[in-house]
Amino acid sequence: MDDGEYAIITNDGYITRNIRDGRPVQKKIMLIDWDAEMSRKGGFPHYMLKEIYEQSETVKKAMAIGDDGIKSLAKGMIKANRAYVTGIGTTFYAAQIGQYYFASEAALSVPAVSSDEFLENFPLTKDDFVLAVSQSGETYDTLRLVREAKARKAKTAAIVNVVGSTLSRLVDQAVMQGSGPEISVISTKAAVAQMIALIRVSLEAGVLTGNLTNSAKRQKVAQLNSLPALISDFLNEYSGLFHTIAEKHATSHNWLFMGRGRYYPIALETALKVKEVAYLHAEGMPAGFLKHGALALVDDNLKSMMFVPTEAEKELFRMTMSSVEEIKARGGKLIAFHFSKSLRGSKLFDDQVLLPACPPLVSPIIALLAGQLFSYFLATTLGRNVDKPRSLAKSVTVA
Ligand code: AGP
Repeated sequence: MDDGEYAIITNDGYITRNIRDGRPVQKKIMLIDWDAEMSRKGGFPHYMLKEIYEQSETVKKAMAIGDDGIKSLAKGMIKANRAYVTGIGTTFYAAQIGQYYFASEAALSVPAVSSDEFLENFPLTKDDFVLAVSQSGETYDTLRLVREAKARKAKTAAIVNVVGSTLSRLVDQAVMQGSGPEISVISTKAAVAQMIALIRVSLEAGVLTGNLTNSAKRQKVAQLNSLPALISDFLNEYSGLFHTIAEKHATSHNWLFMGRGRYYPIALETALKVKEVAYLHAEGMPAGFLKHGALALVDDNLKSMMFVPTEAEKELFRMTMSSVEEIKARGGKLIAFHFSKSLRGSKLFDDQVLLPACPPLVSPIIALLAGQLFSYFLATTLGRNVDKPRSLAKSVTVA
């Protein structure tokens, strides 16, 4: 329908009228070949892609979480004798992102521990604080940990998506991330929103520890606020490119995804996505491990993917590029996702994507979106059952 018109739908059909004078307007009928399922997917072929595209909105929602909730998580963390952030699978990688930002923004050591590994391996008493991250709020390993933490009288909190979930009711403080239903078994939008919430907590904690001035925090919050627009431009402009690059490389069956520092959890999460949705052998690894043994794997049967930081992350950038050279020196096949115009056309890479310029605070998120699109298109190229991949349930409620 055009502007200035409206339609009335009745049992017998419809009529379109002009808003000003009510005059009927003749419209051409166009048949859209959608079934009910497709319309729920908003025209996207899969929920996974739809939810990747919703991330601009879910980041906005994560930025709209009340300051009180975010501040109180930061305070809980600082007051505790030991503070931990936990989750499992994708949400553990979100927790790991938190760990890096708590260190860089607040100079705080908050270990990220996978919830299934926690109780048997880490000390936990009444003076400690456990921040659990979960999309469903029903994950067995995370609930088991939180129940035991409560039994030991530790303080508990959660960043969680599903309202009314067991986790949200169990913890002392639940911060609802408000990402809306995530239908695809493959988690994308919920994890990114959790990362944004954790970055916000790290900025609050940074002010409380004196590591950040109020004005530095405001500047960083402004960078987070500019992310939704960056994300929608990125998705619209780059989707086709990732489709092409994934099609080109879908015949590779062994993948090594690498990054350093805050890009390491991004590499881990991308490798998990490639495993769970494309069913390809994919490992995530800190790029620094190459020279400690993993270089032995580099041959024609392995494809490496490097997440290169922005040049503003000086030392991290330099060290990552030295890992790139290690792979190249052994004739390895390498794809890079990077942010440097100066690397455009570089012979170091067999393929590359120049990601949009952005501040280092948000560049790992853009790198993650690149990883999501790449794994989605690998899976569709290989004809996988994207929204219901084999051997994975939306919430893993069993031991
Ligand atoms: C699905 O894409 C994830 N890979 C899966 O690991 C999930 O993150 C994990 O099962 C935890 O789920 P939760 O966030 O609901 O607790």
